Formats: sequence, structure tokens, C-alpha cells
Amino acid sequence: MGLKSLIIGTTSLSAAILLATAPAAWAETSFAFGTLSADTQDHVTVFMDADGALSGAADEVNDKTEGRLEQAIEDAGFKGKFGKSIQLYGMAPFTSVTVIGTGDEDLSVRQLRDLGGHVAGASDNDASLSVMIDDLNTDVEVAAAQIAMGYKLGSYSFTKYKTDHKDVDRTVAFHSDDTDEAKSLFDSDLGHVAKGVYFARDMGTEPGKSMYPEKFAQDVRALFRGVANVRVDVLDLDDMERRNMGALIGVGQGSVHDPRLVVVSYTGAARTDAPIALVGKGITFDTGGISLKPNTGQWLMKSDLSGAAAVAGAVYSVAKRGADVNVVGVMAMAENMPASDAIRPGDVLETMSGKTIEVMSTDAEGRLILSDAVTYVQEEYDPRLLIDIATLTGSAARALGDDYGAVVTRDWELSQHMMHIGKAAGEDVWPLPLNDNHYSAIKSDIADIKSTAGSPGASIGGAVIGTFIDEDRPWVHLDIAGVDWLDKGIPTTPKGHAGWGVRFLDAVVRDLEAEE
Ligand code: BES
Ligand code: ZN
Ligand code: ZN
Repeated sequence: MGLKSLIIGTTSLSAAILLATAPAAWAETSFAFGTLSADTQDHVTVFMDADGALSGAADEVNDKTEGRLEQAIEDAGFKGKFGKSIQLYGMAPFTSVTVIGTGDEDLSVRQLRDLGGHVAGASDNDASLSVMIDDLNTDVEVAAAQIAMGYKLGSYSFTKYKTDHKDVDRTVAFHSDDTDEAKSLFDSDLGHVAKGVYFARDMGTEPGKSMYPEKFAQDVRALFRGVANVRVDVLDLDDMERRNMGALIGVGQGSVHDPRLVVVSYTGAARTDAPIALVGKGITFDTGGISLKPNTGQWLMKSDLSGAAAVAGAVYSVAKRGADVNVVGVMAMAENMPASDAIRPGDVLETMSGKTIEVMSTDAEGRLILSDAVTYVQEEYDPRLLIDIATLTGSAARALGDDYGAVVTRDWELSQHMMHIGKAAGEDVWPLPLNDNHYSAIKSDIADIKSTAGSPGASIGGAVIGTFIDEDRPWVHLDIAGVDWLDKGIPTTPKGHAGWGVRFLDAVVRDLEAEE
């Protein structure tokens, strides 16, 4: 089969994963998986390791350029260092040839995805692109699918509000000698994870004006429309009042937009199997409330729903690949506004659990909404593991920067396990402590607990949430205030909203699936 027919054949098939609700940027590039052949006149990308040898298809590309490719690589002093690239023109019959270095190590899944990100970064203006994947220095099976996923993650853009943006219609063809496996792994699995990340990034980038609790709920409904074994329930203010969710109601009460609790449950195993619960903070804009935030950087608080966005994206990827596991995602959505009817510092809120919280700062709102969300999910679903994820504290961001999400648990082994999972998945976490002293620090003079107690902020935030988690329940708190937004891009994440957590949470679910 010639390359052309392969592309046409597979493009329509991969369109099957591009549902009507696909995020805007998703549809601009269609992927094809083709056999190893340099039978193209487009832009071509080849890989070169640190030994400098061009092999297989890259060699064929070189032959077609009558050796000019190899000569140009030598002239440029290109050494094949991991992630380095050169784009070479004058390489007829190809429009251009980009060479990407693969270094001298055995490439992991994470590095293959990074390579895919480098392919995207080195070729952003190309109309159509053929990527030749063979003889890579890796033992990972079906490397082409991992590279394709990295490409997808690295080529995200948010163009909705750019009036001069023209939709491009481009095809990226990944050529390997395991075409069928690559296509199948991407279409049935990795592509869904990438789409979950796109969804999360879209949610975190959308301005607060147009992203409020009910809008988020609508977008989640649209994302899951037609996805098998998924049920979406949205609790409104009346439902919350019936359940005495005084904390979630309290945080949302200064906004014209009522809060919502969005619940997505996926049943991939027996109904009686306890689910994994993922609970996300979804503040659609955090002004700080009456404890108003300072002006600088306030615009970024449109992304204070990152935890909820990651939960939606992760449940989507789990459900679409049809994992043999039950997962429930709970997204606590509210807008934190100052208003005459907003909660005040010093107010006492009654939570769904019956426990009371003295609000020390209305800017520490994430732990309040999560206290009701984790109570709800424990009462309704009795999960085997509960992970909450939140842009909770500037303190976590200051401690760990852009590189690591903070992981807070009551169990050191669980923390270490999370570190391993994150490392392999490409989203790292690092532990911060949670001890009796942090629980002592949040004793209140007039209520059961108070919401803040000075530093260390991330641990105190964890202690507040921990107060609402049953003692023997496996629980992980992720504070992602540092990692959810990047000022400078990395291979698989362009600058801006990272969609952090979709891959991590998806990897945790895979890990538990593998255990069974
Ligand atoms: N949403 C913020 C945390 C945040 C800060 C996220 C920077 C992303 C970047 C959170 O609601 C907040 O304001 N936390 C306070 C807590 C304090 C009042 C105890 C903080 O970290 O300053
Ligand atoms: Zn916040
Ligand atoms: Zn806040």
C-alpha cells in the first residue's frame, strides 16, 4: 500500500476519536501511522543517536538526497544529543529534513514522549510532516505511539480568541515497522490520555468570564457524551443545601454563579467493586474573596480549577480506554468572589460531615470546598483510594517550583509509590510532611478546626482536608499550585496551562489495575 492511501485510510479511522466535543486545537492535526518508507516529498523528521549513525529509513532519506543530508549533519556539527534538533532545507526531493538527537541512553516511555514533543517543537510551521521511527535506542515496545502522544501533547495551542488564527489542516504521518500496533495503541489508549490533557488545558486557559461552575459542568457533560459506562451527575445549590454542604455553599455565595458539584462515575468493573475516587478543586476564579488578593498576577487565578480539570481529563482517559476498574471523579466548582453576601474571615461554616470550620482567610477557599467534596465521595462511594488534587497553596509552589507537584499523605510508603508512578508518567511529585503537629495547629477557639494556621502552608492545607478523611482510608493529597501553569514550555507541555495531573492520575489508575 502506498503512503498516500495509508494516510487517507488511517485519517478517517483516527477521526473516530475526534468526537464532536473535541477541544478546538485537537482537530487541526490529523495523525496517520504508515509503514517505513521515505516515499514522500514533504517535511521529514528523522532521528539520530549520539553515535551519529543514520540507519534504516533515515538512511533511505539520506540516499534520496544523494548524501547531502549526512554531509549537512556533519557540516552543522550536529552530534545527536538528546532533544537537540536541526532543520535542514535544500534537501530535495524533501521540502525539509529535521534531524532530532536521541542521545546515548536507552530511551524510556517518558523520553520517547519528550522526543515527540521535540518533533512538534522543531516543526511547528510545517503543513504536513512524515516522521521516520526505526532503530531507536529503546526497548520500549511500539515507540511510534509514544512519540505520537508526545507530539500531540507538545503541539497544543489555545487559539479561540485570536481573530487572525487560520485553521490549518495538517497531517503528521508516523512511519514505523509496527504500523498496526502503533495505530492501535494510539487510537485505543494514548490518544485518549492526550485528549484528556487537551480538555484540562482548555478549561484552565479559558477566562473566568466564560468559565464558571455551570459552564464547567456543561463542558464535562459534553466531553462524556456517548462515552460508555459513564454517568455524569451535577449537584446544584438545592442539592447542596439538602446535604448540608455549608463549606462549598459558603465559598460560592459571593458569586452570581452558583456552585456545582460535578460527579462523573465510570463503571469498568463489577458494580460492587469499590472505586478509586479522584476529587478536584474547581475554583473558576479565585479573587481571594473578602481577603482580596493583591493585584499582581491575579489574572492567573482563572486556572484555580486545575484540579477539577485534571480529574475530568483523567476519568475521560480511563473510561475511553475501557479500563477494568471503577473510578469516580468529583469536581467541586465555585467562584470565590467578594460581595456583600460573601463569607467573611472569622465566619464559621458547617460542613456536610457535621464538623465546623472557622474561616481565617477567605482566600484559603480550596480546602473548604474540598472538605465537603471528600465527605460526599466517602459517604456515597466508600472508595478504596481517595486522591484529591488542588491548586491549594502558594507555599507548595514556592517549595517545589514548576517541576514537582507536592504529595502529602499519612503513609510514607504511599508517598514513595506516588513518586515512582509520577516519574514514569512524566509528571513528578515530591512529598511534604503531614504530622500531628499540623493537626494541632488548626485547633480553633470557637469551632472544631480553623482553616489556616500560618506556615508550613501546604502541610496545614493537607491537615484541613485530612480532618475530613476517614482514618483508615488510603488517601493522597496533591497540591499542584506550582505545576499547573508554566511560564516556559517543556517538550510535552507548551507554556501556559499544563493540564497537570491527567497523566499522573491516569497512571495511578493503571497501577491499581495492574495489581488486580
Ligand atoms: N489558589 C490559591 C493558591 C495558589 C497560589 C494557586 C498561587 C496557584 C498559584 C489558594 O486559594 C490560596 O489563595 N491559598 C493561600 C492560602 C493562605 C491564605 C493560607 C496561599 O497560598 O497564599
Ligand atoms: Zn484558590
Ligand atoms: Zn485562594
